Amino acid sequence: MKKTIVITGGTGGIGHAVAVALAKQGNDIIFQGRDEKKGKKIAEELSKMNGSTARFIAADVSTVSGIKKLAAAIKQLTSKIDLFIQATGVLNSQRCETKDGLYGSFAVNYLCKFMLDHLLLDELKLGRGKIIIVGGPLRRGAAINFDDLHMKTNYSLFKSIGQNQLAIHMHAQEFSKRYGSIPINVVNAGMVKTGIDRNVKGVMKIVFLILGPILANSIEKAVVNVIALAETDAKDSGYFYPEVAKPSIKEEIVLDAAVALKLWDESLKIGNLNA
Ligand SMILES: NC(=O)c1ccc[n+]([C@@H]2O[C@H](COP(=O)([O-])OP(=O)(O)OC[C@H]3O[C@@H](n4cnc5c(N)ncnc54)[C@H](OP(=O)(O)O)[C@@H]3O)[C@@H](O)[C@H]2O)c1
Repeated sequence: MKKTIVITGGTGGIGHAVAVALAKQGNDIIFQGRDEKKGKKIAEELSKMNGSTARFIAADVSTVSGIKKLAAAIKQLTSKIDLFIQATGVLNSQRCETKDGLYGSFAVNYLCKFMLDHLLLDELKLGRGKIIIVGGPLRRGAAINFDDLHMKTNYSLFKSIGQNQLAIHMHAQEFSKRYGSIPINVVNAGMVKTGIDRNVKGVMKIVFLILGPILANSIEKAVVNVIALAETDAKDSGYFYPEVAKPSIKEEIVLDAAVALKLWDESLKIGNLNA
């Protein structure tokens, strides 16, 4: 049966590959990116696949207002969501601050996922409502620094990746506890050559250039777990799929519940949400 599928980051490497695979199955796809021209072209291509319809929304999710606008635009296009795949992401060597004082990669990598899951609750409940977050593994020593959540001091790319991934996993853990009827899981995409490293500079850029061709997976491999989760009727929730292209391997997310709750409450405040 045709599913209504919402994909954030659908114009990027992984999100786009997922959108193509699911359009080939004849689903209705609503996807987001920032570039209107690129988005419209992708929508035309997806709409030619196996009876699929594809609609594009241009939205910047680096601000609270931008995330809310995206949620409103999705609601205008559909009253139900069967599958919600979240694949926005950015890597910044240098800290950048958005108009509302957030640090950019915190908003794009974590906060938009947290906020959209809240803002689209009704639509998720009305549809089959399964959430898949494209993320990565937890980094050793990663922590949520509540004293400096926006990393105004001592910013580093790796600290930022660590905090964002941990925040995503904590969100999935807490969300699955609260909303048992809406499965939420995090999938490791592994290292893939996409546009994600465009803002990586200096030594790290060189490391990416050298190690990329050796370590990177193909995009086909990177999306295997997402597609498998999209297709299954299983209702498992609160899991991380750590191995690229091995959907049978999953780990329950078990993190410090008090920290996850504190982050939840803090994120509600930042996003100006009630829940
Ligand atoms: N690539 C990897 O090696 C790797 C590894 C582990 C995890 N991941 C995760 O996989 C996900 C997808 O990454 P990718 O590799 O496919 O990256 P990508 O090719 O750079 O795509 C990122 C997507 O996010 C969107 N995006 C970025 N900044 C945005 C903003 N401010 N507002 C709205 N949309 C924004 C991009 O839109 P535009 O097209 O408009 O730029 C694009 O659709 C991310 O969550 C990432 O953390 C990737």
